[in-house]
Amino acid sequence: MIKKMILGMGLVSVTMAASLMQEAKNAGLVAIPESQSALLKLIDDPRNPITKEKTELGKMLFFEPRLSKSGLISCNTCHNLATGGDDGLAAAVGHKWTQNPHHLGSPTVYNAVFFEKQFWDGRAADVEAQAQGPILAAPEMAATKEHVVKTVTSMPEYVSRFKAAYGKNVKIDYKKIADTIGNFERTLVTPAPFDDYLNGNKDALTKAQKRGLKTFMDKGCATCHTGIALGGSMNMLGLTAKYKYANIGDFKGDANGMVKVATLRNITQTAPYFHNGMMPTLQSAIIEMGRIQLGAKISEKEAKSIETFLTSLEGRKPMIVYPNLPNETPTTPKQNIK
Ligand code: HEC
Ligand code: HEC
Repeated sequence: MIKKMILGMGLVSVTMAASLMQEAKNAGLVAIPESQSALLKLIDDPRNPITKEKTELGKMLFFEPRLSKSGLISCNTCHNLATGGDDGLAAAVGHKWTQNPHHLGSPTVYNAVFFEKQFWDGRAADVEAQAQGPILAAPEMAATKEHVVKTVTSMPEYVSRFKAAYGKNVKIDYKKIADTIGNFERTLVTPAPFDDYLNGNKDALTKAQKRGLKTFMDKGCATCHTGIALGGSMNMLGLTAKYKYANIGDFKGDANGMVKVATLRNITQTAPYFHNGMMPTLQSAIIEMGRIQLGAKISEKEAKSIETFLTSLEGRKPMIVYPNLPNETPTTPKQNIK
């Protein structure tokens, strides 16, 4: 009798394990595919196909501080690939130590390729279009298109690399430079234990992470934090209550008040949280989300459980070799910190 019960219980827990995975899939959660060819299909854009020549050049430009007016600030300054793809600040700091005028924080660039739109208000369609913004923005890199094109074309190594990437008649203009950075960003994806789990490895999550996943879904978090990025689409902020720091900075979302649902991938590495960085810890962010988006009171214990699930989204970063950048020539624009 007892033996039968134990056997029976074993069966129940096996079906539970299988159904949790199924439940996650039914909730719209999607794994980064294991197969490189399936992944390439997802991240590639036929208008700017990924090639080794382009991604290597795009990586150099991502790390290239001389694109900025001061010669000090690169994309990597605010989107540090060694620290989760962001800067750890509540509001970004750029040219002349200027804080973002809207008190906006730098979102991570990891997995940005999966977002439906870019920026907190979704104003850019993809990573290529997005990359054109920060270089010219006065509080960020404060450059001009002319400065950028002149800088790149003043160094023969860049010119030959553009030719190798796009053909010898390539026109090196501002758009091509941004497209190349975008091409590199497309490769910044970070498969995590959660993906291994959804891809069929039942043991990729700990018991506590599985319980956290269940809490995450039961609470309704996956209605917005869904898809391959667990975010990346636009939604309302403050559905059931007003975000308690809504008045820090003047950000109001897009024309319809919609805000980008931040990705939860690598979320353990990108504190502080929310567009204006006012939530210092993951626990506080989770509890505030419950209150303002779901009208749910999330206990500290439940928040802890969800947080434990979120650790399974800390992904394996691509190996990035820090590039050697070409030497300046007499025609390279001078650094200007004013
Ligand atoms: C001074 C800091 C700073 C620099 C330099 C900077 N960014 Fe950003 N980045 C930000 C901030 C702040 C935002 C959010 C701004 C907004 O939504 O209006 C952002 C947004 C983004 C996003 C959108 C991600 C998302 O979740 O929507 C991407 C992608 C990105 N930056 C890539 C880049 C690239 C590529 C460069 C270099 C060409 C760059 N950034 C330079 C601070 C910076
Ligand atoms: C109705 C849609 C919606 C629901 C439901 C929702 N979120 Fe969010 N979440 C968002 C949006 C939009 C943002 C961006 C907030 C901002 O920009 O200030 C966000 C941001 C976050 C952040 C901060 C991310 C960052 O990088 O700053 C965390 C953490 C988070 N959500 C977790 C959760 C959890 C856990 C739940 C369930 C308790 C949940 N969310 C439910 C829409 C939602």
